[in-house]
Amino acid sequence: QLIPVILSGGSGTRLWPLSRKHRPKQFLPVVDEFTLFQSTILRLQGITELEAPVVVCNEEHRFMVAEQLRECDLPHQGILLEPIGRNTAPAIALAAFHICAQHRDANLLVLPADHVIRDTLALHHAIGVAQQAANDGFLVTFGIVPNKPETGYGYIQQGETINTYRGSTHRVAAFVEKPDITTAEHYLASGEYLWNSGMFLFRASRFLEELARWQPEVLGACQQALLKDAHDLDFIRVCPDAFATCPNISVDYAVMEKTMDAVVVPLDAGWNDVGAWSAVWEDGKQDQDGNVLRGDALIHNAHNNLVHTEHRLVALVGVDDLVVIDTKDATLVARRDQVQDVKKIVDQLNVKN
Ligand code: GDD
Ligand code: MG
Repeated sequence: QLIPVILSGGSGTRLWPLSRKHRPKQFLPVVDEFTLFQSTILRLQGITELEAPVVVCNEEHRFMVAEQLRECDLPHQGILLEPIGRNTAPAIALAAFHICAQHRDANLLVLPADHVIRDTLALHHAIGVAQQAANDGFLVTFGIVPNKPETGYGYIQQGETINTYRGSTHRVAAFVEKPDITTAEHYLASGEYLWNSGMFLFRASRFLEELARWQPEVLGACQQALLKDAHDLDFIRVCPDAFATCPNISVDYAVMEKTMDAVVVPLDAGWNDVGAWSAVWEDGKQDQDGNVLRGDALIHNAHNNLVHTEHRLVALVGVDDLVVIDTKDATLVARRDQVQDVKKIVDQLNVKN
């Protein structure tokens, strides 16, 4: 059995002003007619032994999650509601406990809800390979060949090859979450490292074992939080008091950097973390001048821009490398190489409100 665990509790601040607190990017149709959340589940169709997913999200977004599942006729086996975000290690722990509490063990396919993957068949193939390794107790990461010294990703150093599985599966020699730029440049040049895609596959019980070893406080808090859970329609509310005591830590720092039993399966499937507007431009359909235009936009003598407009006509003349996002109540104009700092604007907004 394979149970997808959809992590959809992020806030997606770098895609402001499209992404908002009440409607973060994973619940928006950022690249096609489906939302990123819906596409995450839809692209799994066709995988054998696949069960309905478990969704872990903030309780504020519960109706949006339920509605988006319904819209695509997608069944689920639990929508776990977090009262506050405690990052991905606790979110995955809740899902693992939820499955094990039903007195069974299964392989969990942990998926961020905000990625674009173009080649579904390549993804399915990699998941097939990963399943074999997970059956043997390994914690599987999916590695992407890096093309720039990105500091927002985890880096995986490939160790010895494991020939038991199809594809070129390697042991993880080292896992380094979000290195500084000098280190990232060194990793890129060495050719030994892959990016961590942020997707994982492991047996629920194996994950909990590793968590018990490396982060017992996370394990304890999540177990407590689910002991006193409250079922409400489709939703499972975890106990706020118990969950509040849980450390805030990502699975990368909590387990993946530490475990001795990680392997990496290569993934070449047109993967893109739509983290910031620059990624939307890269992923989009560029015209002959490199512009990606979405909505009512006119361009003269302008190159390599991204325009997204929802309610107004937007025109660009003689400008290059810009991102222009126009929504009903806010407009963003930014240099394409500085869009990571959009989150600074969101910080300012949060202070104001
Ligand atoms: N339920 C829940 N609760 N989901 C969460 C929470 C939380 O508290 N925090 C984050 N998520 C979800 C996000 O919505 C996203 O889908 C996923 O978990 C990953 O979180 P990010 O915050 O986007 O992580 P990241 O991009 O900084 O880093 C991870 O992904 C990179 C690839 O995109 C790491 O795994 C890196 O190693 C990896 O390279
Ligand atoms: Mg991310």
